[in-house]
Amino acid sequence: MFNHFSASVSRPSGTSLTQLSSVQFPTLFASASNCYNQSIYRYKKRHLPGDRWTIPIIGKFADSMKPTMEGYMKQWNSGALSALSVFNIFIVMASTTEYSRKILNSPGHAEPCLVYSAKQILLPENWVFLTGKEHVAYRRGLNHLFTHKALGLYFNIMDSVTRKHIKKWLAEAVVRDLNMDTSLRVFCGNHLPDEAPREICDKYWDITVALELVNFPLALPGTKVYRAIQARKVALAWLELAAHRSKEAMAQGKEPSCMLDEWVTLLNDPGYKGRREFSDREMAMVLFSFLFASQDAMSSGVIYGFQHLADNPDILAKIREEQSRVRLGQHDKPMTLEDLDQMPYLKAVVKESLRVKPPVTMVPYLAKKAFPISDDYTVPAGSMVIPSFYNSLHDPKVFPDPDTLLPERWLDPENPANKNPQNYLVFGSGPHKCVGIEYATMNIALALGLASELAEWKHVLTPRSEKVQIIATIFPQDGCLLKFTPRQYA
Ligand code: HEM
Repeated sequence: MFNHFSASVSRPSGTSLTQLSSVQFPTLFASASNCYNQSIYRYKKRHLPGDRWTIPIIGKFADSMKPTMEGYMKQWNSGALSALSVFNIFIVMASTTEYSRKILNSPGHAEPCLVYSAKQILLPENWVFLTGKEHVAYRRGLNHLFTHKALGLYFNIMDSVTRKHIKKWLAEAVVRDLNMDTSLRVFCGNHLPDEAPREICDKYWDITVALELVNFPLALPGTKVYRAIQARKVALAWLELAAHRSKEAMAQGKEPSCMLDEWVTLLNDPGYKGRREFSDREMAMVLFSFLFASQDAMSSGVIYGFQHLADNPDILAKIREEQSRVRLGQHDKPMTLEDLDQMPYLKAVVKESLRVKPPVTMVPYLAKKAFPISDDYTVPAGSMVIPSFYNSLHDPKVFPDPDTLLPERWLDPENPANKNPQNYLVFGSGPHKCVGIEYATMNIALALGLASELAEWKHVLTPRSEKVQIIATIFPQDGCLLKFTPRQYA
């Protein structure tokens, strides 16, 4: 998902040679170079659908800054594989499940390709930039942070943070704050002082907005990337402090109470076979990579979850029915993972909500070498090759009535949705598949489950509620205006 800011790769929609006819190229060199670029584009594109000509730099830059869902759909629907060029980067888009999975599962040919600014923000030495065997080994170690036991601990923290925020939402709802606060408390527990989540949350937006496909290359003061780097410095300093305090607390024999504690305890376990030494900074960088990978996708998932439930009161009513059955009206009692295990309907709603509005619609990969993706087309080495998830998740053969929220489709083992797990690409596939799947789904389920128990909310509909805005991940264009009131129990 580090790559899903790629969402800002847009088809240069609406660009055509006629629009460009008024462009006067100042020198002969410019026109010779344009001619060369056109030929290269045509040569690489071969028979794939896509614009017949690439367009000069400014046009592409402008378009890639304003991606639209309609632009993407046009590109995806133009062919199973299609071509485009943004800023003279040749791009092959895959729109079918088969090709998308092939890209994600061909580490020998393609690897995730991050927007330029990601390395500046996350630091080049961050584990997420590893590939191949080194990546597999590092990731294997991190998987221990997401065991069932560890998730149970995180769930308790999520419950108390979510309750605090639902209370606040009764005054003013800001979902991004809930995600940040939950993540930081799950990752660092009380090793972070109270002012830290506030400060990190305030600055984090600078990171979100810097993750564009194309950014000013130098991180000079005043640029978005410069501001994002300052925000990263603040976040890393707090996370390093938390790592340090966690090591001290575990050395004093305290009970693990957050992800850092789980990690330190694991590293001290005599039976543990992986690498044992991690500096405070390395631990902080891993946590920051989780924050980075999850913040925008989680906000998108939670916001659409709330919007979907407000717009489908019958589904909300069924969630409430299930809540009362499992929790017996004990609203103040923390929800547990065991409670969640008895809520198949709530889990189906989360799965379905993420299918209808997948936070990450595509992830860009880079062809490391010539990649024979189909019988009649080889992606040229050095091209971007982008698996898209939207069409797989809206394939009417697998998900009849694909745009409608139908949680029931996940409750019937014979339903084509359950028979075709290869289509469920919300979290990607292959060696870089999301590490936070369980974490993310249980967190969204908890937020929706608790909110339906404790609050009523109304969706203030606007003409832009159904339109999609792409800021790294997808959001309702009007930001989703919800009005919360305390729930009155009969
Ligand atoms: C609804 C929420 C989320 C969605 C939709 C999502 C989706 C994704 C996707 C599509 C990828 C790329 C997969 C690929 O290239 O095949 C990814 C990677 C990743 N995600 Fe998530 N994610 C979510 C939440 C989280 C959370 C909560 C965490 C951490 C706590 C997380 C950590 C990561 C990491 C570390 C990677 C990179 C893995 C690697 O390169 O090995 N994600 N995610």
